[in-house]
Amino acid sequence: MVNRTTRIISGDQAVIAAADLLRSGHVVGLPTETVYGLAADATNPEAVAKLFSVKGRPAHNPLITHVHTIAHARLISGDWPPAAVALAQAYWPGPLTIIVPSIGKVAPAVTASHATIAIRIPAHPIMQQIITAVGRPLAAPSANRSGHISPTTAQHVFTDLAGLIELIVDGGDCDVGLESTVVGFPNGRATIYRPGVITSEDIADTLLAAGIQSGPVPFAATDGGGGPLLSPGMLERHYAPLRPAYHFDRSQVPQLTGIAFGHRGNLGLITFGPLGIPAGHFSTVALATDLYQAARGLYAAMHSLDRPDIDAIFIEMPTDETALRHAATSGHPPIGMARVLADRIRRASLPLPLKL
Ligand code: TXA
Ligand code: MG
Repeated sequence: MVNRTTRIISGDQAVIAAADLLRSGHVVGLPTETVYGLAADATNPEAVAKLFSVKGRPAHNPLITHVHTIAHARLISGDWPPAAVALAQAYWPGPLTIIVPSIGKVAPAVTASHATIAIRIPAHPIMQQIITAVGRPLAAPSANRSGHISPTTAQHVFTDLAGLIELIVDGGDCDVGLESTVVGFPNGRATIYRPGVITSEDIADTLLAAGIQSGPVPFAATDGGGGPLLSPGMLERHYAPLRPAYHFDRSQVPQLTGIAFGHRGNLGLITFGPLGIPAGHFSTVALATDLYQAARGLYAAMHSLDRPDIDAIFIEMPTDETALRHAATSGHPPIGMARVLADRIRRASLPLPLKL
C-alpha cells in the first residue's frame, strides 16, 4: 500500500491542512468526541475508495456521513420520520447516528448502495471546524484498520495507520470513548442498530416526552436471524486487541485466579473495581466506577495492554450489579451503560478458557 510519512498536528494550522487535503480527495485522521475518525469527502468516489482501502474495510459495510448542521443533514437525505427529527434535535451535536432514506447525494460506496444513509453531527469543535471548512459531508468510520480497536487518541491512530495516511489531527483524548449509538427507523419506529452511551432508555424517554413513541426501544437482531440485514457492521467481531483477549464475570474469578497461577508470563487485566485477585500476576488497569468515565478509558486500557510483553488480556464484563454499585455514588443505576460496555467487551474478546 501507499508509503508516506504520517504527521500529527493540532490547532488552526491542522484545521487548514486537513480541509485542504480532504478537498483534494485525500484521507485524513480526525478527532471526534466518540472515537477518532478516518475521513474522506463523502461526495468524491475516488476519495471514498481510498478510505475503504486504507481501512481494509469490506465494501458491504456502509460508512457514517458527518455534517455540521441539521439543515445540511436534511439536504442530503429523504423524508425523516418524526422520531428521527426529535432525536436529532435532542442529541445533535453528539454521539448519535441516525439512519434515514438516502437520495444519492454521496458516493454510492458510502451507503454500500443501501436505500438508507447513516448521518451524524459530531460535537468535537475541531471536527466541526473541519467539516465547515471543507463545505462537504465527510464519510468517516473509526480510524483503525478493520477489526482492530477504535482509537481514542491521535497516537492510537498513528499506531494503526502510520505510513498509510499523510495527516492525523490531534484533538486530545476522546470525551465519550465509544462509537456512537446507531438508530434506525424500520416501519417508522426507532430501533437500536448499535448500542452506545445514548442508551435505549435515553431514546425511549426522549420519544415518550415528545409524544412520538412509547415503550422500550428494541435492539435490531444482528445475527441475520432470517430477517433483513439491518446494520452490516454489527456482524463482525470488532474492536479486538491483537493479543488474545478473554472476558469474565465476577463468578469466574476463581477460574481466572487458577489461570494466573498456572501461567509464567505477563498477563493483562482490566477491571471495574477490586476483584480480590492476588496482585503481581497481572498488569492491571482499573477503570473508573463511574461507568461513563469507564467508557472513556476502556479502549485506551485495551490499547495500553495490547503489547508484545503481555501474553493475554482478561477483561471484566460489567453486569447490572456493576451498575447498581455505581449507583451507590451517583443515585441512578446506569444499567444501559453497563450493557453497552458489555457489548463492546464481548465483541473484543472470547469467553474465559479453562487454561491458557
Ligand atoms: O462514533 C462513531 O460513530 C464513529 C465516529 C468516527 O463518528 N464512526 C464509526 O463508524 O464508528 P463505523 O464505520 O466504524 O461504524 C458505522 C456503523 C457500522 O456498524 C455500519 O454498519 C452502520 O454504522 N451503518 C452505516 N450506514 C448504515 C446504514 N445505511 N444502515 C444501517 N447501518 C449502517
Ligand atoms: Mg469501527
